[in-house]
Amino acid sequence: MTPGKVLITGGAGYIGTHTLVELAASGFEPLVVDDLSRSTRRLIEGAERIAGRKFLFEKIDCKSSAQLKTLFERHPDIGSVIHFAAFKSVNESVEKPLMYYQNNIGSLTSLLETMMEFSVTKLVFSSSCTVYGQPDKIPVTELTPFKDPETPYGASKQIGERLLQDLVKAWKDLQVVSLRYFNPIGAHSSGLIGELPLDEPNNLVPYITQTAIGKRKELIVFGNDYQTPDGSCLRDFIHVMDLATAHVQALKMMDSFPQRYEAINLGTGKPYSVLELVNAFMKVTGVKLNYKIGKRRVGDIEKVYADPEKSRKLLNWETVRTVEEALLDAWNWEKNISK
Ligand code: UFG
Repeated sequence: MTPGKVLITGGAGYIGTHTLVELAASGFEPLVVDDLSRSTRRLIEGAERIAGRKFLFEKIDCKSSAQLKTLFERHPDIGSVIHFAAFKSVNESVEKPLMYYQNNIGSLTSLLETMMEFSVTKLVFSSSCTVYGQPDKIPVTELTPFKDPETPYGASKQIGERLLQDLVKAWKDLQVVSLRYFNPIGAHSSGLIGELPLDEPNNLVPYITQTAIGKRKELIVFGNDYQTPDGSCLRDFIHVMDLATAHVQALKMMDSFPQRYEAINLGTGKPYSVLELVNAFMKVTGVKLNYKIGKRRVGDIEKVYADPEKSRKLLNWETVRTVEEALLDAWNWEKNISK
C-alpha cells in the first residue's frame, strides 16, 4: 500500500464521498479537493459523521495548475490520486461541449502536469461505460472496441483514457487504473450521504425517488419498444458503496497489476431493465410510483452491461449489494434530504 495521503479530486461529489468513507475505514488518509460547482459541503459533513472524524478539505479548481501546485507544495506527502472531478451530464455536454472538454480534459491535464512535477505516480481515473458507445456485443469486456462516442461527455472520457495510455508510455513511473463505471445507484445505508442533484437530476434513480416523494408529478419511462424482454432499456445498476470499495481495492492492488495502465469494468454483470427497476422500487418501498411510458430519449443506448471477470481477478472484488438494497438506501436518503 502506497504511503502518504490519497488526494481525492471531486471528493465532495456522489461517488467521491462514498469512496471517502470507505478509504477512511480502510486506514487511508484522504485529502479532499472540490470546486463545489456541482456539490456542496453537506456531503462532506455527512461523510464526516459516518466516519466519526474530520477530513482535510480544500476548495480548488483542478483546471488550475497554479492552485494544484500550491496544494501539492502544502501536502508533500500525497502518495496517490483518485480523480473524480469532472462534469457528467450527458445532455448538458451536448448543449455545452466546449465547457465539457475544457473542464474534463483541462482538469486531467493540469492534474497530470502537477503529479509529474511532484513525482506522484499513482492514479485512479473515473471512467465510464460510456466509452463503449453502443457495443456490438454484450456483456462488454475491457477489450470491447470503443465505438464513436454518443456525446461530448463520452468523448471526454475516451480522450481521458487515451491521454493516460499515451502518458504511461512516455513517463515510465506512472501507474494508472481507469475504472469504467456502469450505472451507480443507491446511497450509504446511514442515509447521511447520497446523490444530491443541485437542480435537474442526471440519472434515473433520483427521478424515481423525487417522484415518489412528490417533488415531481410523474416519472417518464423513456421507451418500451426496444429489443429487450420488456421493451425498456437494459442497464447494469451497481450500488454506489460497492463502487466505493472497488476504489479502495484499486489503490491496494495496483502495485501487483501486470500493466502500468489497466482499465477495469465496474458492474454487477446482471442486466436489469428500467421497468424492472421501477417495479422493484415500488415493491421494496411499498410506495406507488406515478409513471408512464414516454418516447425514447435521444442518444440512449438500448442495452449495456458489464462482464465483471477482470474486476474479480485483478481487483479481487465483486459486488455484494443488491439492486433492491440500493433502491431502499436511495429512498432512505431522499426522505432524509426532503425533511
Ligand atoms: N430513464 C428513464 N426516465 C428517466 C431517466 C432515465 O426512463 O426519467 C432511463 C434512460 O432512458 C435509460 C435508463 O433510465 O434507459 C438509465 O438512464 P440514466 O440517465 O440513469 O443513465 P444512462 O444509462 O443514460 O447513463 C449512464 C451514466 C452516464 C454514461 C452512460 C453511458 O449516467 O454517465 O450511462 O451509457 F455516460
